[in-house]
Amino acid sequence: MAAKITVLGNINIDFVMRAERMPRPGETLMGSDLKLVPGGKCANQAVTAARVGADVTVIGRLGEDVFGPQLLANLEREGINTRYITTDPTTHTGSAFIALTPSGENSILSCMGANLAVTPEQVEGASEAIERADMLLVQLGVPLEAVQRAMEIAGGTGTSVLFDPTPVRGDLSAMWPLTTVSCPNETEAEVIIGRPATTIEDAAKAAEWFRDQGVDVAIIKLGARGALVLDDDGARVVGGYQVDVVDTTGAGDAFAGALGTRLAEGAAVEEAIAFANAAGAMAASRFGAQPSLPTRDEVGALMAAQQADDRVQRA
Ligand code: RIB
Repeated sequence: MAAKITVLGNINIDFVMRAERMPRPGETLMGSDLKLVPGGKCANQAVTAARVGADVTVIGRLGEDVFGPQLLANLEREGINTRYITTDPTTHTGSAFIALTPSGENSILSCMGANLAVTPEQVEGASEAIERADMLLVQLGVPLEAVQRAMEIAGGTGTSVLFDPTPVRGDLSAMWPLTTVSCPNETEAEVIIGRPATTIEDAAKAAEWFRDQGVDVAIIKLGARGALVLDDDGARVVGGYQVDVVDTTGAGDAFAGALGTRLAEGAAVEEAIAFANAAGAMAASRFGAQPSLPTRDEVGALMAAQQADDRVQRA
């Protein structure tokens, strides 16, 4: 039976353009090749989970504009249950303005719109979807009190919680004890704990900090190097997969959606992280957020093509 995944968070329309470089303050540069692409961290994680085989429900909010129905239809085409996505008549659908440089780096300005109108009451109205899920996925693209309420409901019924703390903001101290698995990247970890998390040694110390706050499985994503994990079995680095990077937008979301699905299926932590590393790498090798997200067969093919006996190393 498919793993049941419920995802709470933001659903966006991404306006993506190419730029030779990022503009300096006060400077106007010409972009090119504008494309409108479905995105948003929650929606990207949900689409990844659906493409790798999970039974997915999304809790979120859209604006009353042309984009809302398009994004809803897009999630439905992926086979996702959209029953708990509501429409807000007072504001616009979440939007992100993304500039891509030739090296594949991106710069994102997000205008959250209806995403910020998700309330704890809306989450409570969707509590059955959290209670029956094997895994709840949350990020920080909707109000913190809504995220915390979802985590509390999950905690009350034994649903595991995968917390991807992005975009980092606010006081998250009450959320860590409600977290089963956390997966910030090295930059996010540094902002949260106030110390660098870039070297393996520093990432291991950062993971210790998350464990001290109450997280069971503390993961720090390390980009192309893979990810460090610290749990009851100690610290390990699970190596990444090498691809030609085209656009990193959505790569972290692919990681979280794939990780949550494999853990909910009962995979061992290292195995789930290897799968998530491969999903993230696949997403980085293609353009856009949701257009880049891989299927299970594509993740499997990359893993088979880059098998390595030393993928998991003690840290
Ligand atoms: O993580 C990538 C996402 O961040 C984009 O799809 C964009 O919508 C922003 O929320």
